[in-house]
Amino acid sequence: MQIITEPCQMQAIAEKLRLNRQLIGVVMTMGALHEGHLSLVKLARQSAGTVILTIFVNPSQFGLDEDLHQYPRPFEQDVALAKAAGVDYLFAPETESIYPKNHQTTLECGALGKRLEGERRPGHFNGVATIVTKLFHITKPHRAIFGEKDAQQLAIIRQIVTDLDLDITIVAAPIVREESGLAVSSRNIYLSNQERSAATILYQGICHAEKCIAGKMKNLPAIAAEIEQMIGSTPGCRPDYVVFVDEERFLPADTAEEEKEYRLLLAAWCGTVRLIDNSKFRA
Ligand code: PAF
Repeated sequence: MQIITEPCQMQAIAEKLRLNRQLIGVVMTMGALHEGHLSLVKLARQSAGTVILTIFVNPSQFGLDEDLHQYPRPFEQDVALAKAAGVDYLFAPETESIYPKNHQTTLECGALGKRLEGERRPGHFNGVATIVTKLFHITKPHRAIFGEKDAQQLAIIRQIVTDLDLDITIVAAPIVREESGLAVSSRNIYLSNQERSAATILYQGICHAEKCIAGKMKNLPAIAAEIEQMIGSTPGCRPDYVVFVDEERFLPADTAEEEKEYRLLLAAWCGTVRLIDNSKFRA
């Protein structure tokens, strides 16, 4: 595995790979690699000849009150995990080479970037859109694999690809869960043992929704309200939002219509840690 830090060097390598008809798969991360990231690399490995993994803690997607400076950066451990997972190139640039002093241009997401996570974290998705687009230009992938755990981010990236006519196939990777049902996330390391077990209420909420939908309950906001109540009555936990959206437009959904797909999105505080989770349903 080769470690690259300069965007122009990564671009030159990607260009050469393309000229040699290599299919490039990219997995973008902010490091602190875990089972979830490794499942993305595995998917990339299955469908691409060359796998590029990017590690970059992107300052432009963090709010002023967020954890940019505390964000875990176990680089040596990440290198070992990436190597063992079969990554060919690890692109890990310094902040200054991605955002030099005179950097001015950013991407502005539309309405989708302003709802839900975007409403709670103003500017977050503009930062994500900007870095993902820059990394697309630097790594020149044919395929890019993103986790379904960040469902709204995935929807926004699909929108970017459509809106900017990018010739890249976006592959969605299923959420990886611990045995308890807790979705694997870099932020889980901030959870105490007690919070970690309380946090499984998000997955229990998803299971509750599954039962309701299988039982032909049609009122989606009513199901969401029941899940909010479950989270709120769990010691140490506080719901932020629980909402069903239609899978196509990501707009709040009211009545479950036969054969249509919906996604339940959950965000909750467990102690001081804010967690998100989601699941797709067909009514
Ligand atoms: O999902 C993440 O880890 C980040 O938002 C991403 C896509 C790597 C952009 O910084």
